[in-house]
Amino acid sequence: TWTSASFVEEAIEKIKGEVGDKKVLCALSGGVDSSVAAVLVHRAIGDNLTCMFVDHGLLRKNEAEQVMEMFAGEFKMNVIKIDARERFLSRLAGVSDPETKRKIIGEEFIRVFEEESAKLGHFDYLAQGTLYTDIIESGTATAATIKSHHNVGGLPEDMQFALIEPLNALFKDEVRAAGTELGIKEEIVWRQPFPGPGLAIRIIGDVTEDKLNILKDADYVVRDEIRRSGLDREIWQYFAVLPDIRSVGVMGDERTYAYTIAIRAVTSSDGMTADWARIPHDALERLSVRLVNEVKDVNRVVYDITSKPPATIEWE
Ligand code: XMP
Repeated sequence: TWTSASFVEEAIEKIKGEVGDKKVLCALSGGVDSSVAAVLVHRAIGDNLTCMFVDHGLLRKNEAEQVMEMFAGEFKMNVIKIDARERFLSRLAGVSDPETKRKIIGEEFIRVFEEESAKLGHFDYLAQGTLYTDIIESGTATAATIKSHHNVGGLPEDMQFALIEPLNALFKDEVRAAGTELGIKEEIVWRQPFPGPGLAIRIIGDVTEDKLNILKDADYVVRDEIRRSGLDREIWQYFAVLPDIRSVGVMGDERTYAYTIAIRAVTSSDGMTADWARIPHDALERLSVRLVNEVKDVNRVVYDITSKPPATIEWE
């Protein structure tokens, strides 16, 4: 039977055996998966691991700062932050097709890694927090491709690194158990899943800086309010989506014409299937009021009541 203790022990031995004294670069995103992968590899090979954190500008509010504090500050790992915000925004300009957005982000990620790591000397391996579910959903293990997850299907074919994916046989709950086993703080281990392509796939239509700022503020309110309501542990994922919709409203004596925010909240155990979360109406009420009052350019809030299947958790 699977235990987190034996998984961690075996994974560390396996990484040591494969990597030896070669150099590994880690794609750190700050999410649960890449955090656990990074700490696992760090345990195995110590300073031969360099983590690169690409700030693509598609992260949640304050997230880039938190990632640096956590890994460079607290864990004393070797983390290099790359500010690639302009680069991603300009490549995404005018692109609204979901799969095209995902491919662009996945490719750009690897390009940034290649360019920036070349400045640091030679790396033999790239470590990633790919899960079993990522592989299945990308169609590697089944016939149908549902969505190309950025850390599998989006990889350019001329990539120069060999991959280490120590979590690729694990489901999310097992990754959390492994993270706890590794001594990673609860708030990181229990962080809700966040997709590699980030907020770009929660903005329906083309991605602009203005829309990103609206979504960051809206997402912050959703996370804050769900936590205050004490629902954060029972809900698997809870976030805001910015559909490409503006509608008419009234604020005071003024007619408004502003964006709609969709709240997405689901319960799930592995992300493969999900049920829309039965959030109490009074919590929904607080969410609605806060989103309209605290987020500029938002005058309407809707709640997504679709399960997976037939919908997916993310909107793109
Ligand atoms: P969907 O939207 O396919 O999402 O129901 C299932 C789970 O996967 C997350 N997700 C991703 N994770 N890279 C990731 O690392 C991606 O490209 C990606 N796309 C979706 C999603 O948040 C949910 O937890």
